[in-house]
Amino acid sequence: MSAILVIDDEPGIRTTVKDILEDEGHRAFSAEDGPAGLEILKRERIDVVLLDVWLPRMGGIDVLKAIKANYPAIEVIVVSGHASIDMAVSAVKLGAFDFIEKPLSIERLVTAVRNARALSSLRLENAKLRRNTVEDPELFGTSPAMDQVRELIHQSADSDARVLITGENGTGKEMAARSIHAQSARASGPFVAVNCAAMPDTLIESELFGHEKGSFTDASSRRKGKFETAHTGTLFLDEIADMSLQAQSKVLRAIQGMRFERLGGEETLEVDVRIIAATNKDLKHEISRGTFREDLFFRLNVIPIRMPALRDRPEDIPVLAARFLATYAAKDSSPRLLSTGAAEILAAHPWPGNVRELKNFIERVSVMCDDNPVPESAVRHFLAGLDGKPETRAVDSLSELVDLRLTGAKDAFERKYLVHNLRKHDYNIARTAEGIGVYPSNLHAKIKKYGIEVGE
Ligand SMILES: Nc1ncnc2c1ncn2[C@@H]1O[C@H](COP(=O)(O)OP(=O)(O)OP(=O)(O)O)[C@@H](O)[C@H]1O
Ligand SMILES: [Mg+2]
Repeated sequence: MSAILVIDDEPGIRTTVKDILEDEGHRAFSAEDGPAGLEILKRERIDVVLLDVWLPRMGGIDVLKAIKANYPAIEVIVVSGHASIDMAVSAVKLGAFDFIEKPLSIERLVTAVRNARALSSLRLENAKLRRNTVEDPELFGTSPAMDQVRELIHQSADSDARVLITGENGTGKEMAARSIHAQSARASGPFVAVNCAAMPDTLIESELFGHEKGSFTDASSRRKGKFETAHTGTLFLDEIADMSLQAQSKVLRAIQGMRFERLGGEETLEVDVRIIAATNKDLKHEISRGTFREDLFFRLNVIPIRMPALRDRPEDIPVLAARFLATYAAKDSSPRLLSTGAAEILAAHPWPGNVRELKNFIERVSVMCDDNPVPESAVRHFLAGLDGKPETRAVDSLSELVDLRLTGAKDAFERKYLVHNLRKHDYNIARTAEGIGVYPSNLHAKIKKYGIEVGE
């Protein structure tokens, strides 16, 4: 049994089709125009829509677009009179499953519905298979907090609603975004990530919306923006708090109608893109400081997902450490384990750089220490930074540096230097980068390398 919605302005057709479908054992609903049909879709779980292309109020093609954008899993069969065959053909190009001509033949109607159902269950089956094989491929952790995150990811994957992922550095925000995409009906479409912090203000608009040849000095050819590249897929706007107010207002405008123009272009482009945004900043705070648009916040924050800091779920630390250790072990070697003492020490460490820092740490341990299981003493040793690679180590004074080996001292100095300058510039990436004379992307990479906290 399927649930079928008939959208047609002729009452006669609505009743006849509804009767036929119900006789076939389906649940049938009907609406006299597009807006009424879309209302029903909000309330009922519909499998197939039979859509007249020639409709009052909102044209059939627009109704089709709205259905495909909001409910990609629903199959649409277009019904058209002789005069509107061209429209039916373009509807199929836009993703309608099939079209039938009026006057309707019962047989043709029943077969089209059956075929549409077969296709959509096949799609569901595929999505399920994908879900089972790649379900959160790497989002490890058994804490209740992580269970909740996985549940939210799962739920949001079923819709096209915008998601805002917050959390400190290295807590897995990007992984969560990828996971939502991979579990969604858009999985076969592209996942496009844009790091808004790594881009100078002047470039971000062209990066997002593309540009026409000659639209500014460096624009030697026409270029597609990320919004276009992400068509039918997911656009991940990372580090959104670092976007200028000007760029924010452009993004706001673009996501409202999924319509925009390339820089220097006249043509308005329309895309079908799901937006997931992320930040390690407190957007409420940014709003009160006047550096983030409140209206944009409300648009993005439809489903909020907060990635918990690692220190708030210490029971995940040994689990994550064990999984990372297993993945770093050489293929033909015996599985590597952590001693209980080592696991306890790791669990008690605060991990300011969260999972990323833990992962890097375990990688280092797996390379530097051959004992299996990894002994407590080795973990203590490396945590204290005594191997001279102080990613986990923040020195308090420069005099401490002279006791380290050269690479270690360089790294420790660089970390301290960066923290100092970031603080000085209020953790604004663009301004800090300018202040110390590096590219923002370069600064960003270093912040990651050292697991520096820029959330506050
Ligand atoms: N739950 C997890 N299970 C396994 N690996 C994880 C988990 N969370 C994070 N990671 C790993 O930690 C690293 C950082 O994750 P990710 O890039 O998603 O974090 P982020 O929150 O986007 O960080 P940043 O704020 O620095 O951009 C990645 O290598 C990722 O694979
Ligand atoms: Mg990230």
